[in-house]
Amino acid sequence: MNILVTGAAGFIGSNFVFYMLKEHKDYKICAMDSLTYAGNIGTLADVMEEPNFSFCKCDIADKKKVFDLFEKEGFDVVVNFAAESHVDRSIEDPGVFLRTNIIGTQVLMDASKEYGVKRYHQVGTDEVYGDLPLDRKDLFFTEDMPLTASSPYSASKASADLLVMAYHRTFDMPVTISRCSNNYGPYQFPEKLIPLIISRALDDKELPVYGTGKNVRDWLYVEDHCRAIDMIIHEGRVGEVYNIGGHNEKSNLEVVRIILKNLGKPESLIRFVSDRKGHDLRYAIDPLKISEELGWLPTTMFDDGIRKTIQWYLDNKDWWLNIISGEYREYYDRMYGNR
Ligand code: NAD
Ligand code: TYD
Repeated sequence: MNILVTGAAGFIGSNFVFYMLKEHKDYKICAMDSLTYAGNIGTLADVMEEPNFSFCKCDIADKKKVFDLFEKEGFDVVVNFAAESHVDRSIEDPGVFLRTNIIGTQVLMDASKEYGVKRYHQVGTDEVYGDLPLDRKDLFFTEDMPLTASSPYSASKASADLLVMAYHRTFDMPVTISRCSNNYGPYQFPEKLIPLIISRALDDKELPVYGTGKNVRDWLYVEDHCRAIDMIIHEGRVGEVYNIGGHNEKSNLEVVRIILKNLGKPESLIRFVSDRKGHDLRYAIDPLKISEELGWLPTTMFDDGIRKTIQWYLDNKDWWLNIISGEYREYYDRMYGNR
């Protein structure tokens, strides 16, 4: 099988590449990434020399380059991770989110249609369902819920999902969509909550918690997400959406406290800052469909996953120190300076 993985130099895309190379030694994997601020070619260093791996620096919205690559490579499967992915940045500057997340998806699907790709998989997010109230623990996101996005990021991801489904209906394209909850694990860019807290706490810096810290996210270890996508591209039904999540809801404050405890750092580092605009209250996935249809269940529990993740950031300081020393420092000052 010949698979194109877009956004492969980012957090989940790179973990997916490692997972697939480990699980399917006879597959060819082509990693595509335009290497935005969030993409790091160094992340893929260990697999660069593998005979069945190749890397292509390409913007998914660059039609000519994308079509040339599809013509040359003859992909069987496309898994689209490439996206602008950070909610706070989408509030600052939505334009690039619409270009990459919507137009980029359209270009990839046009190429998949033109060159007869057998499965196009869109990596989606649970944020397209909007949010759930904090005081209704009985409510969960199911695949048939209407899409009601809150941020420019989630609106762009919802638009992409609608487009993918429209291509299925209109052109009979063999598509699947997954909508996953918040991921954590190795190689996550330190602007997202968990790596941000780990990297700053290690440096005894203040830890910014938005609003009250009571907002709830449903955390999943990244490898469990990768395994779910592997199952969907092999056994998932065409035209279907699969939610991915493992019933692991935690408030942001709980997550921060768990990290501090693991690191032996004081809670006095926590600083409550002004809330994110339009901040979603609670995300919670109902994974019944994927577990019943495909037999997927998460295997890494949070206690274990967060320990492994913290250990990874301790063992790989060069990876993130490199990132937080450059342009990212300006971003941090701009985002949090007056908060
Ligand atoms: P990320 O920001 O770490 O990585 C995104 C990658 O896409 C980067 O390597 C970036 O360089 C690349 N990219 C951006 N624009 C591109 C373009 N125009 N052309 C080619 N490459 C481009 O994001 P992530 O957390 O790994 O998320 C990957 C996907 O999973 C996204 O589609 C996101 O919406 C989805 N998702 C993420 C989470 C999460 O918790 N991180 C949860 C559910 C779904
Ligand atoms: P984030 O990792 O940005 O993921 P998402 O917004 O896609 O869920 O944020 C996770 C939660 O943590 C979210 O409720 C916002 C909150 N948060 C903070 O409280 N402080 C921070 O510095 C960041 C980045 C996030």
